Amino acid sequence: MEFNIALIKGDGIGPEIVDAAVAVLEKVGEKYGHTFRFTRYLAGGEAIDATGVPLPQETVDGCLASDSVLLGAVGGPKWDTLPGDIRPERALLGLRSKMGLYTNLRPAKLYPALAGKSPLREDIVSQGFDLLMVRELTGGIYFGDRGRRDGQYGPEAYDTEAYSVMEIERIAHVAFAAAQKRRKKVISVDKANVLETSRLWRETIHRIAEQYPDVTVEDMLVDNTAQQLVKNPSQFDVLVTTNMFGDILSDEASQITGSIGMLPSASLGDSTRGMYEPIHGSAPHMAGTGKANPTATILSAAMMLRYSFDLKEEADCIEAAVDKALNDNCRTYDIAVPGMEPLTCGQMAQAIVDRI
Ligand code: IPM
Ligand code: MG
Repeated sequence: MEFNIALIKGDGIGPEIVDAAVAVLEKVGEKYGHTFRFTRYLAGGEAIDATGVPLPQETVDGCLASDSVLLGAVGGPKWDTLPGDIRPERALLGLRSKMGLYTNLRPAKLYPALAGKSPLREDIVSQGFDLLMVRELTGGIYFGDRGRRDGQYGPEAYDTEAYSVMEIERIAHVAFAAAQKRRKKVISVDKANVLETSRLWRETIHRIAEQYPDVTVEDMLVDNTAQQLVKNPSQFDVLVTTNMFGDILSDEASQITGSIGMLPSASLGDSTRGMYEPIHGSAPHMAGTGKANPTATILSAAMMLRYSFDLKEEADCIEAAVDKALNDNCRTYDIAVPGMEPLTCGQMAQAIVDRI
């Protein structure tokens, strides 16, 4: 089969990790007889430098015309002082919203080979964990009304959290359907003891849950969830939550796996076209040093094969190659084994390619 993939390398370590994932996809294409055509588009800081805006129209059009988008990371200190609406991060938010990608899937699991890298105590880690964070991606405070104004105490700023029933319903369906294919347990994360949006969230989740009688649903307050993730992560199967809570909790989930360099993500909407990116950022301090871990981006490419292209066997093959590489002690700097020279980003990619 043939697939057109829009590539956004972005900033910092973006180009190295995207090149790594492309090498893996090319090997998969060779092995299974698929052609992946890659077209590069600019976004983030690289786009600001080249065109003056973080998300050129050409990039939006190219992504919408592609079968899916693979993105590295955007942002860096060079662009940190720009006004909010032309910061590199706007590119991500703009793409998510313009492509209608309201679902963000962020799986976090413990690789037994990396258990020693987890900051959690051995008796907790030994239980293992394998969870899926389902984060709402195009609503909430990220996209609500915002601004500056004169308030009671002088100048002030505000951001607004708003959720419609429709937005909650559609992400609820995603979470319940995902749970049906897993361990059939959904934990819905909110702050219903304080926020009205959370009370609507909770109500709506439970109403949709009735359509999935084989899945159990439980509510958990976000502050408690932050504790439970480090105390007893094995209790989680699927978590479903808002844009901002999902952003924060998925970083926490990544840390307990041992490295943020391991976590992939898939952003999806109603069509098969998605955007796939590691959950970590552009790590500008690591750019060009070889210290970047390409695994999260490679696993994101595997998610692309699974969710957008329906290539299950090929996706399994990439994930198995990552497992093998880790079990063979192939490690980048962030997950290095004491006494062994860590692999560079390119060497790690090659180690995974060799195991496909
Ligand atoms: C993420 C990132 C983004 C987000 C930033 C870079 C806008 O942190 O994908 O988790 O907050 O969604
Ligand atoms: Mg984040």
